[in-house]
Amino acid sequence: MVFNVGGQYYALRNRCPHSGGPLGRGVIRPHVISRGVGHFDFEREAEILKCPFHNWEFDIATGCALYDPSMRAKTYPVAVEDGEVVLRLG
Ligand code: FES
Repeated sequence: MVFNVGGQYYALRNRCPHSGGPLGRGVIRPHVISRGVGHFDFEREAEILKCPFHNWEFDIATGCALYDPSMRAKTYPVAVEDGEVVLRLG
């Protein structure tokens, strides 16, 4: 899966590191933070991918889970060459 976040491309494997969920069927969303009960704010609009199976959230840029950064979706390098988006799988 290739994502365009603010003009920067990122690629993630379509497999959640938690239990193999299809990340490509997840929802792209902001990071929700809270200063306390009843207060919440959004940051990093459209930079977070939420797995459809158990709602773990991943940073699209790094593949790391927000809750536990040691859990990481596989990422692939992406480049733009001659106007084409090129994904390097090797
Ligand atoms: S399989 Fe993705 S959160 Fe569990």
